[in-house]
Amino acid sequence: MSDRHPMTGNEMSGSERGGLERHSYDVVVIGAGGAGLRAAIAAHDAGARTAIVCKSLLGKAHTVMAEGGIAAAMGNRWPEDNWEVHFRDTMRGGKMLNNWRMAQLHAQEAPERVQELEDWGALFDRTEDGLISQRDFGGHRYARLAHVGDRTGLEMIRTLQQRAVALGIDVFMECTVTELLKEGGSISGAFGYWRETGRFVVFDAPSVVLATGGIGKSFKVTSNSWEYTGDGHALALRAGASLINMEFVQFHPTGMVWPPSVKGLLVTESVRGDGGILKNSEGKRFMFDYIPEFFKAETADTEEEADRWYDDKKNNRRPPELLPRDEVARAINSEIKAGRGTPHGGIYLDIASRRSPEYIRKRLPSMYHQFKELADVDITQEPMEIGPTCHYVMGGVEVDADTELSGVTGLYAVGECSGGMHGSNRLGGNSLSDLLVFGRRAGEAAASYAEGLGGQRPSVSEDDVKAAEQAALAPFESEGGENPYSIQQDLQQSMNDLVGIIRTGQELSRSLEEIEAFKGRAGKLSVEGHRQYNPGWHLALDLRNMLLVSECIAKAALAREESRGGHTRDDFPMTSDSWGTKNLVLRLNAAGDGVDLAEQPLPVMPEDLQTYFESK
Ligand code: FUM
Repeated sequence: MSDRHPMTGNEMSGSERGGLERHSYDVVVIGAGGAGLRAAIAAHDAGARTAIVCKSLLGKAHTVMAEGGIAAAMGNRWPEDNWEVHFRDTMRGGKMLNNWRMAQLHAQEAPERVQELEDWGALFDRTEDGLISQRDFGGHRYARLAHVGDRTGLEMIRTLQQRAVALGIDVFMECTVTELLKEGGSISGAFGYWRETGRFVVFDAPSVVLATGGIGKSFKVTSNSWEYTGDGHALALRAGASLINMEFVQFHPTGMVWPPSVKGLLVTESVRGDGGILKNSEGKRFMFDYIPEFFKAETADTEEEADRWYDDKKNNRRPPELLPRDEVARAINSEIKAGRGTPHGGIYLDIASRRSPEYIRKRLPSMYHQFKELADVDITQEPMEIGPTCHYVMGGVEVDADTELSGVTGLYAVGECSGGMHGSNRLGGNSLSDLLVFGRRAGEAAASYAEGLGGQRPSVSEDDVKAAEQAALAPFESEGGENPYSIQQDLQQSMNDLVGIIRTGQELSRSLEEIEAFKGRAGKLSVEGHRQYNPGWHLALDLRNMLLVSECIAKAALAREESRGGHTRDDFPMTSDSWGTKNLVLRLNAAGDGVDLAEQPLPVMPEDLQTYFESK
């Protein structure tokens, strides 16, 4: 069995194992990316005893992968920009499936959240007039992304992290939560383990905020790192909450394709925002061939007009390289499939022939170094080879727009692990503003709920703690089974092949069969060794979450018989009006070993907001 002393190999006693560690807080935030940090700061500021629990090191979050900027209608470059235009762009980018109220709050509050970040020490690039600089990104009518070179997410994390630490918020690093605990229908805490020692830990707290990020590790080619195994999505499902929009997975159009060790690593959209263009192996600027009807009126159809746009956005239409991400990723995929790809199976992204080396190094310092050091490519002199990479999931925990409360009392969700805000496709830059706006709202709501309970907090059941311990130790129980890495690898390949950018009903059905088979294999897997830092054991536990969220994605993708945003069906290539009025909602099934799916009508947008979409 598992609990062997690392030196002697003898079975350890309870005290040698360190027993069970316990902590009590008002608000526990799971995840320490931008959303988690912002939520924790808000909860702390509202007077709640707050802790952050994170699986990785503090500061190591996917937030840093949002390199190009924070979308906020500050109007620093284009005074005509305002929240209404941002709201409209966001809804159109999401193909109108967004939760309108979230999109409204997001557009209205983002400028204030950016300003606040600056007040807390973030050092943004400036305009000639000394204002916060804003750059162009796909789907945004005006240059709207407040940025710090191409390291905006990193600066944001640095600022929030510094503030959280300065405020004295407790941080539990390298601690993974495996179960949420409840009394009746309400959250009472969370159960997890220290990655280093394997020691179990219970957090007793009436409010838990999930801020665990995305699901990218279910796919083979991804910009996500090892932490992104859909933990928050799966914890919420198992606690009784619902997920929405899970069929919508964003493939960022530009990931590195070479060398293989960095395949999938993000190449920021800022390269295109700052003038970069896409070319196929025949040297053709192919995006002009892929302008969809929906965006025809506002997209340039000649190179001359596309290029004029950078100087005058009022009288010219946007370059097609700056169409929303779903459109660009599909176009790249088609070119590669048609045999017009690069030697390493990508497409060329060229900024070298369009901007000076000084400009490129100033605006895109990370991209310059990334390609120079990892691929021996000087992007000031030659094009990059890029291709789509799984970057973001639009789907997540269904929440109340104003408070981020899920269907479970005391359970909140923010950032990538929540759903609704981005509809079927997120605009670049909208994730950083999303996590600031809704992180703050969730933190405040979670603190206020905890305070309102007074002394009547739901209590942690010792039986539930025992059950959580048993579930966590289960991978040690079977001997001679498969190791979790081979199952993970097969799952990633299967999701890439069958649930990728272009889907068919037949492939999705096969994917669900394969997921069932992976579940069977995962139920019999074995892990070697003991509980002290044991990555195989950690993966075995993460795998449960990966399998559950993969099932959600495949099931919803099979049910949605149309193409929209981050969901393209080869067998249903059109966007359908009837599907435009409903969400797909997933809940854990009665047996607790899979998910059930249901249709649900979209919330109805008030008439005053509908007017923004009348003049297309
Ligand atoms: O391309 C990027 O810099 C990524 C931004 C985002 O995902 O929002």
